[in-house]
Amino acid sequence: TKVLVIFGGQSGEHEVSVISAASVIKALHADRYEIQTIGITKDGSWYWGARPEAWKEAKADITNGAKQVAVVLNPQKPYFQAIDGSELPDQGRCDIIFPVMHGPKGEDGTIQGLFEMAGFPYVGSGVLGSSLGMDKDRMKAVFKEAGLPIVPHLTLLRSEINAAPKAAVKRISDSIGFPCFIKPANLGSSVGISKAEDDKQLLEALIYAAKFDRKIVIEKGVKAREVELSVLGNESAKASIPGEIKPTKDFYDYEAKYLDNSSELIIPAILSQKLIEQLQSYAVTAFEAVGASGLSRVDFFVTEDKQIFINEINTMPGFTQISMYPKLWEASGLSYSLLLDELIRLGFE
Ligand code: ADP
Ligand code: DAL
Ligand code: MG
Repeated sequence: TKVLVIFGGQSGEHEVSVISAASVIKALHADRYEIQTIGITKDGSWYWGARPEAWKEAKADITNGAKQVAVVLNPQKPYFQAIDGSELPDQGRCDIIFPVMHGPKGEDGTIQGLFEMAGFPYVGSGVLGSSLGMDKDRMKAVFKEAGLPIVPHLTLLRSEINAAPKAAVKRISDSIGFPCFIKPANLGSSVGISKAEDDKQLLEALIYAAKFDRKIVIEKGVKAREVELSVLGNESAKASIPGEIKPTKDFYDYEAKYLDNSSELIIPAILSQKLIEQLQSYAVTAFEAVGASGLSRVDFFVTEDKQIFINEINTMPGFTQISMYPKLWEASGLSYSLLLDELIRLGFE
């Protein structure tokens, strides 16, 4: 099977994608797959033959040996073509695409729409599941409709904040209070997210988040453990055992996730059987509510008095060797490489 791994992309999670893709490529069974790659630069150019290992080093010449390509929309036989007219291996064809990308234009349904238009099979969620899973405001709406417990929140538009910043701050402090979390609606890896303890921090956080998105979600801060479950499957998806994240910082921000390596993953999370079953059932409900397929990681808050809140779903979760998504399956007896086999099989279904 010819697998085309696409990585990088235009979102604030470009670097995370490069690390995820390097791990995926290393773990794909070499005897089962012919692997091709496309790296997408931050400005949106596509390079066939790009190597995530080289992209990890910021100074590496990304075009080194890689060829800029375009997609040929041809639903019976879609393929990629080099811009300079030169030959590509296998005439730029593949059997399936694995878009190992996080954030907007990778995980939000846009690139999935391109695959649909072109006629490529691909790993993971389709257009709707990806876009609902990306937008924290709409995600919460479908979670609520599905009966899942969500944290009190408000959604404001950048234009509302710019027009009347003081009124926005007042509205939030009156209804949500402090501490609260301010998030760009469409992002991941904690990019653009701040915690605010007072009006001044809130205003700064709103302005900061508005740099990343036109839509801002403000949530009540909860004091809780962070528990995550992996979901795998298409129509009858299953949830894994839960894992817990113990950030050593105030919250699980970008630095804690990828840079300082200090956060601890506890697998399995120590929780009662009753709570575990409840979380597993919620995780599958969330997966079905957004219409996800293939894979997702569903993240929860569990308070001291055992209240559960769903935080979010990630339709293309971090996929490094030390990431929670593959680790949870590994702990359930499915190795990283076999997990990839299953994801590719599900992508053809
Ligand atoms: P992302 O999609 O970028 O991962 P999250 O919504 O998961 O964004 O928020 C990132 C982190 O911020 C969480 O893992 C958690 O540590 C903290 N956080 C987010 N929302 C809340 C909240 N309502 N209460 C407490 N902590 C929160
Ligand atoms: N958005 C990052 C990659 C995650 O959820 O793991
Ligand atoms: Mg998160």
